[in-house]
This record gives sequence, structure tokens and C-alpha cells, in this order.
Amino acid sequence: MGRAARQRRLSRPACSLGRVPEPRARVLLISGSLRSGSTNSALLRTALAVAPAGVEATLYAGMGELPHFNPDDDAEGLPAHPAVAELRAALHEADALLVSTPEYAGALPGSFKNLLEWTVGDASTYRKPIAWVNTSGAAAPTGAADAHDSLRKVLGYVHAEIVEDACARIPVARDAIGADGLIADDAIRAQLAAVFAAVSRALRP
Ligand SMILES: Cc1cc2nc3c(=O)[nH]c(=O)nc-3n(C[C@H](O)[C@H](O)[C@H](O)COP(=O)(O)O)c2cc1C
Repeated sequence: MGRAARQRRLSRPACSLGRVPEPRARVLLISGSLRSGSTNSALLRTALAVAPAGVEATLYAGMGELPHFNPDDDAEGLPAHPAVAELRAALHEADALLVSTPEYAGALPGSFKNLLEWTVGDASTYRKPIAWVNTSGAAAPTGAADAHDSLRKVLGYVHAEIVEDACARIPVARDAIGADGLIADDAIRAQLAAVFAAVSRALRP
């Protein structure tokens, strides 16, 4: 969906019978980590839990099912692998994306880069507003800067629209994740609320 259509959908006028509730912004959350105890995934699960009333957040959970990207498998007329079709449908349905990724060996994790490569063929991130949160703490000397530089480069290549105001470094220590898989820390939750607010602002006309 183009920006104009999205903005129309998010700003329907009030009807004569009363105010029509503001449509909710659909935000797809994508973790770049497959690790079960992942701080990035925990932050996004927590984001799901604290999403405000104006946001319909969905956590994408299919990265581990995606096949290795091969242009031969993405040729015109070929049916997409079910996991790829599911990813693309989720991306197309989303008004905006929020990602959280670790840095591996000075770059994006291969599985996450693989996911991004599957978005090229059908332009599913073209002009899609996207923000990231970065969980790296003091122990990461560069603050995962190389991964995020790489992410910025890839997103530029696929013509996504980076919502700069919404991108935030929110350090998450491994012991901050509770038995429920969520982060209880109020400061972190407040930062996530601010991220959603910035994403929502970016979606308004
Ligand atoms: C194979 C591997 C390579 C890593 N390379 C880097 C790196 O280059 N830079 C960095 O800051 N952290 C690096 N790390 C640390 C991870 O980014 C860090 O543990 C992060 O919290 C993992 O995210 P997760 O908790 O969501 O799994 C690496 C970790 C692994 C397992």
C-alpha cells in the first residue's frame, strides 16, 4: 500500500452519526535473533505487551522457517515458498515495521539478512516506515554500530523509510528478562511506549 493510501486509511474523517474511531496503526515486530533467550526478541515481546491502544502490534515468528534466499526460487511465475509468502503477506499488511537485531561478527545476523533479501523481489518494504531498537548494552563496545550501519544500508537499498525519531538504543541485560519472557523494567517499557508514539506520529498525514 502506498503512503497516500495508508495515510487515508489512518485518518478517516468523523461521520455524521458520531466519531469513527481512529484506525489502528499496524506495526509488525521483527527480531533479528533466533536464540531462545534472545534479548532482542524479549524486547519485542515486551513491545507487544505494552503497545498503546492506537497500535495493533504483531510479532513475526517465522524467520527460522525461511529458506536460504536464492534468486532462482524467486523467479517470476514461481509460487513462493509458504514461509516466504507468509513473510511477504505480513509485511504488506503492516503500516510500519519495528525491528530489533543483534550484531554478529560485525554485521547483521545471516538469518536476518536472509529475511531482508526475500523482501527485495516483491518490494514489500518499498516506502515502508521502519524503525529499530538496539538492545546492546555497555558490554558491546561499539553498541552494535556495524550491524545498524549495515541495516541502514540494506534498508536504503530496498527503499524503506527509516523513522529516525523512533529508532532507539534500549540496552537489555540478559537477567532483565523474566520467567514469562518479558521485561518488567518500567524505564524500558516507557522507552518502548515512546518508540510507538514516534512511529504513530510518522504515520499521521
Ligand atoms: C556468533 C556471534 C557473533 C557476535 N558478534 C558480535 C559483534 O560483532 N559485535 C557485537 O557487538 N556483539 C557480537 N555478538 C554478541 C551479540 O550481539 C549479543 O550477545 C547479543 O545480545 C545477542 O542478541 P540476542 O540476545 O538477541 O541473541 C556476537 C554473538 C555471537 C553469538
